[in-house]
Amino acid sequence: MAYKDEKLSEEKVFKDPVHRYIHVRDKVIWDVIGTREFQRLRRIKQLGTTYLVFHGAEHSRFHHSLGVYEIVRRIVDDGFDGRPEWNQEERLVTLCAALLHDLGHGPFSHAFEKVFDLDHEKFTQAILLGDTEVNAVLTRVADDFPQKVADVIGKTYPDKLVVSLISSQIDADRMDYLQRDAYFTGVSYGHFDMERILRVMRPAEEQAVIKYSGMHAVEDYIMSRYQMYWQVYFHPVSRSAEVILTKILHRAKHLYESGYIFKQEPGHFRSFFDRTFALEEYVALDESILLTYFQIWMKEDDPILSDLCYRFINRRLFQYAEFDPATEYRKIGELEQLFAEAGIDPEYYLLADSSSDLPYDFYRPGEENERLPIYLQMPNGELSELSRSSDIVDAVSGKRRTDHKLYFPEDLLEAGKETNPLYGRILKLLKG
Ligand code: NI
Repeated sequence: MAYKDEKLSEEKVFKDPVHRYIHVRDKVIWDVIGTREFQRLRRIKQLGTTYLVFHGAEHSRFHHSLGVYEIVRRIVDDGFDGRPEWNQEERLVTLCAALLHDLGHGPFSHAFEKVFDLDHEKFTQAILLGDTEVNAVLTRVADDFPQKVADVIGKTYPDKLVVSLISSQIDADRMDYLQRDAYFTGVSYGHFDMERILRVMRPAEEQAVIKYSGMHAVEDYIMSRYQMYWQVYFHPVSRSAEVILTKILHRAKHLYESGYIFKQEPGHFRSFFDRTFALEEYVALDESILLTYFQIWMKEDDPILSDLCYRFINRRLFQYAEFDPATEYRKIGELEQLFAEAGIDPEYYLLADSSSDLPYDFYRPGEENERLPIYLQMPNGELSELSRSSDIVDAVSGKRRTDHKLYFPEDLLEAGKETNPLYGRILKLLKG
């Protein structure tokens, strides 16, 4: 029997708090899960620094990847079953892409990518196509199979319906992370009726569409995404932790470049500082390694590096103030000068951070980042863009909301303001 058709003698199930069970029958899927690159996702948290705010948010990218696979498996095995053009290889490409769509995420992705100028999507492609265990499993299906999986994830795969299941405005990725992140953070937002959405999802040429009668379930999904962004993903305190994390990596890189002698040789980072790292070295990293270095760097002689690590490890985070970069750019300049005069390096201790999200976007052809809208299939069979029928979606559609914050060490300034009048002036300016 061809490898792609092989089934396990007994179905394997993973117990899952969100989908109850995750079912695996295909030998290929089971083998992919067992590779070291996929197992590595167990050691990378799904929500980065969010666990410092919502202590339940310790779930990993491994959980989420299995969850996306399960949603897609249900769509292709239940919803699309019996379609003449749907064959086993197409089914398997779709399932593998679902399982592997986040494979390239590094430890604390956002901060790490920012400092070392990396892109996790490129690493997903590199791991799929490189000399890896995942590649060896996928190649057993067919020589061009790893490339097909990579094309679905890279959105260049010819069958756009397949691409839309993994990445669109209503895809299995979002449907899994919203529910999973809501479950683990414990918030009451993020819940919606996925069972209903799966029942009303219909395959169309370019993407899956929603039967008109399912519109309210989709409205609920869009609103839950909107609320999760502002309540969880952009939470100002987890952003504070992320800002500190970014600055730790910046400082370590800066020290390395300026010839600083570390008490403990930063072996895992050296090739990243030098930008000479191999794929193997990237795959070897995980969050426990970063956290170990932060513990070690707390004892470094450099006061900035050791202070930032102490803050991250012990959750002594920066305080924040609202600010508007359009009107308050002068204030930033003034603050930077005061920080420097007070002997606090503004590059590491006065940090602006912005978050922004577009809850749903209608189709604007020709514009940058064109995104396919969600279509409803009307009773007469015609397709209609969601925000035309839904007032609720129309209210949030195409509206980008941005939030700017300024982060600073309030604890340090408060403690020193009696002896250093500059500290007091800074506090007044920041909070006034
Ligand atoms: Ni994902």
